[in-house]
Amino acid sequence: MTENKKKRIGILTSGGDCAGLNAVIRGAVHYADQLGWEVVGILNGTHGLLHRPVKAEVLNPDDFDGNILRRGGTILGTMNKGGVFDHKMPDGSSKDLSDDIIEGVKLLKLDAIIGIGGDGSFAILQKLAKKGGFKMVGIPKTIDNDLGKTEVSVGFDTAVMVASEALDRLQPTAASHDRVMILEVMGRDAGHIALSAGIAGGVDVILIPEIPYTLDNIAKKIASVKEDGRNFGLVIVSEAVKTEEGEKAQQSFIDGQVRYGGIGQYIADKLYEMTGSETRVTVLGHVQRGSAPTYRDRLLATAFGVHAVDLIKQGKYDRMVSWSNRQVIDVAIDDAIAAYQQVDIDGTLVKTARALGVSFGDK
Ligand code: F6P
Repeated sequence: MTENKKKRIGILTSGGDCAGLNAVIRGAVHYADQLGWEVVGILNGTHGLLHRPVKAEVLNPDDFDGNILRRGGTILGTMNKGGVFDHKMPDGSSKDLSDDIIEGVKLLKLDAIIGIGGDGSFAILQKLAKKGGFKMVGIPKTIDNDLGKTEVSVGFDTAVMVASEALDRLQPTAASHDRVMILEVMGRDAGHIALSAGIAGGVDVILIPEIPYTLDNIAKKIASVKEDGRNFGLVIVSEAVKTEEGEKAQQSFIDGQVRYGGIGQYIADKLYEMTGSETRVTVLGHVQRGSAPTYRDRLLATAFGVHAVDLIKQGKYDRMVSWSNRQVIDVAIDDAIAAYQQVDIDGTLVKTARALGVSFGDK
């Protein structure tokens, strides 16, 4: 049923940023404005709701500088650490911030909230919405593309473009120096970025967490490339790939957090040792998140922003917008949270790569 009443809706970005978030915000604000509704941008994810007065501002299409569609990052700011129900305090203790956040939502007098996030953010927002009795819809964003029930999330296409372009830049220098170049990319526990960029960037070896490898098989592939008369090699490795012994490559940060990092150097050292080929490593890191969005991300983001407002118009809540079969649909947000999506090792892209002779270093 369509609800015609004038509404005041909140919108926030949560979790790691990515390209296309501003395009989502723009799409939602334009459509809501057409409906005569007011949109309140909540700053710094749920953490803006902890401040008094709440950190939020009304968003009008007229306030956008014609460039918002093209801009990376998020004009609202975001937060990907600390937690809500068990927020880590500086002294190491945990605190439940949920009541203060829910009070913040009530102070804003919102009819519903659009949360732009990944599975972790959605799980927190859903829990908050249930506890606080407010309504929400979700828009999937993550460069990792690991959220279930949608073919693609905002930010993935741009991250793949950046990684592919990095390979385009690594190839000439690899060829000039007879080197094997290893590109380490993000993606958390899913190898989607490495797989897509690896195919698009014409690599010899793709290493993803979903396919166990042996160093021997990677070395054999590099040796065969050389035997075939090519003087360079390209390898792409996903950050969550483990060492051959099954250890995670991680780094501890000064704030106590542990993040992926280092598998590229591990592979490079081993390959150097085993093949004698000179190796170099590039860790792409947050460069994958900070670019201007590709046209695909802009389209997806805009369509998602509009559809999320439409869901609220129809009074459909606890839904996540989703891309499926060339259109936007919506699914139960709880189903999406529960359906973590790693690479399908029997899927089209893995088959395509194999058909090209790309090695996954399979055990
Ligand atoms: O989930 C997005 C992501 O970019 C991952 O690919 C990566 O492992 C992580 O976030 C990095 O987090 P941070 O921004 O805290 O360094």
